[in-house]
Amino acid sequence: MYNFSYQNPVNIVFGKNEIGKLSELLAKDSKIMITYGGGSIKKNGVHDQVVKALEGYSYIEFGGIEPNPKYETLMNAIALGKKEKVDFLLAVGGGSVIDGTKFIAAAIPMERDPWDIMLGNAAVEKAVPIGTILTLPATGSEMNSGAVISRISTKEKYAFMSPWVMPKFSILDPEVCYSLPKRQVANGIVDAFVHTIEQYLTYPVNAMVQDYFSESLLKTLIEIAPKVMKEQPEYDDCANFMWTATMALNGLIGCGVPQDWATHEIGHELTALHNIDHARTLAIVLPGVMNVMRNAKRDKLEQYAYRIWNISAGSSEERINQAIQRTEDFFESVGINTHLKDYDVNETTIGIITERFKERKTLLGERQDIGYGTVAEILRSRL
Ligand code: NZQ
Ligand code: ZN
Repeated sequence: MYNFSYQNPVNIVFGKNEIGKLSELLAKDSKIMITYGGGSIKKNGVHDQVVKALEGYSYIEFGGIEPNPKYETLMNAIALGKKEKVDFLLAVGGGSVIDGTKFIAAAIPMERDPWDIMLGNAAVEKAVPIGTILTLPATGSEMNSGAVISRISTKEKYAFMSPWVMPKFSILDPEVCYSLPKRQVANGIVDAFVHTIEQYLTYPVNAMVQDYFSESLLKTLIEIAPKVMKEQPEYDDCANFMWTATMALNGLIGCGVPQDWATHEIGHELTALHNIDHARTLAIVLPGVMNVMRNAKRDKLEQYAYRIWNISAGSSEERINQAIQRTEDFFESVGINTHLKDYDVNETTIGIITERFKERKTLLGERQDIGYGTVAEILRSRL
């Protein structure tokens, strides 16, 4: 196991009706800006619960943060937040609203163009404090320091991380899942699955807790997927789903182990160029990464095949092939297509992505050995 230090300061408030506890978490004299997305919170009652809990507080609202939050939209929120001198941001939504709010939080105290954060040209040195009310189990953004922001004008999508944008608290009420469209439930399952895989399917460093923990998250997702995909899911299935998605990317399973993230980096390009849902890009790319990187990942692939899918018969190649197939089948079982052609993406896009990685001199993967040529090979295997 590698050396590591781990600190996660996010206060998680988990369970039914916990949104009502907001007032216990916020200072009475705060000047709050509530941020939200396209309006789902106004249809499912979450907005009403927030308004009720904030009686007596001073707050403004900024709605309209879109999925894959856009720099262009967020700049309006930043201007509003500066003008109104807000001192607390309350994100109410899925990963996009939370990520967008992290960007707003880091940008409000800045003088220069905050896109520089995304390009790695400016460090986050402070931020307006954030709290979140999660409405979609998927990204783990409610308990981590990352955010992924897109820019329409340049068709770019990049991530940044900073301890400054860790939420002070996150309220996780599994009942928010009841109003989720099945497409978003499926996205959440696949995103959480791939977050776990990115930190697990690398090479062994004898990190037993991290391995068994990751395997428990993967198995939970496989077991609850058909249950949360039901028309009316049970509360406990939603609760397990929500907690699994949070645990998959709050830093814990990534302690002291190598991490991959190639699937995410390649997937972000597919979203930037074709606006494909984040999780769907992962379902396309991951089987390609497993396949093309099978030699580098052999030990862990065999472990994954055995411990997750009970595959023990056959040669190493056969077991790995089966494990990749089972992974694809799992994604398809929740209605997510796994090939580029299903999304009308062809060789031209592979050319553009390859060119982008070549220009940026990007090296991906746990050994930083996935260059642009290998990216092309991975994507071609998914046509
Ligand atoms: O915008 P509204 O109207 O709220 O509707 C949203 C949106 O259309 C809807 N929704 C959310 N909660 C709902 C609901 N509809 C009904 N009932 C509810 N309870 O779902 C749609 C998708 O929401 P979005 O926030 O975009 O989804 P998700 O949580 O999957 O977030 C995806 C974004 O997170 C980034 C992705 O790149 C993508 O931009 N990621 C962030 C990460 C992080 N910060 O650590 C890691 C991830 O790998 C990921 O990259
Ligand atoms: Zn993800």
